[in-house]
Amino acid sequence: MAVKTIITEPNPLLRQISKPVDKVGDEERLLMDDMLETMYAANGIGLAAIQIGIPKRIIVMDICKEENKKEPRYFVNPVIKNKDILKSTYEEGCLSVPNQFAEVDRPKKCDIEYLDYNGEKKILKAEGLLATCIQHEIDHLEGILFIDYLSKLKKSMIIKKLSKNKSTRIVV
Ligand code: NI
Repeated sequence: MAVKTIITEPNPLLRQISKPVDKVGDEERLLMDDMLETMYAANGIGLAAIQIGIPKRIIVMDICKEENKKEPRYFVNPVIKNKDILKSTYEEGCLSVPNQFAEVDRPKKCDIEYLDYNGEKKILKAEGLLATCIQHEIDHLEGILFIDYLSKLKKSMIIKKLSKNKSTRIVV
């Protein structure tokens, strides 16, 4: 396993639409292992493959809050079904939008159809944090970031800030 570099906004890669996976094989499992290690190292609770520059429809998550306990989840080709009309609001952040947070409304409950680590077809009934997190991650597969839900002004302020942090300033 290896910790990979997480791509941050602004970067056109993050706007790419990820491609479906034909088959969950060793290559995909190795990628999922690397993604999980990368996510844990960055103290995140979810990561999409495109965030490490790989445009495949693969997500890893672990929303377990207990210390020293791991509950990794793997989603390949996830599809959202039955979105709730009711919304819940969380203050979201993203490993690709470092140190920025904002409230986002999303359907409170949803069902997810996906393939698991072994390539088996599964359905997950998600609600609360789990539902919000999986929806945030599936957005990544479509090239959508949580800042896209904010006002134009707020979004451009965040991007400006991130761009500034990216350039290396030297005074000599
Ligand atoms: Ni994210």
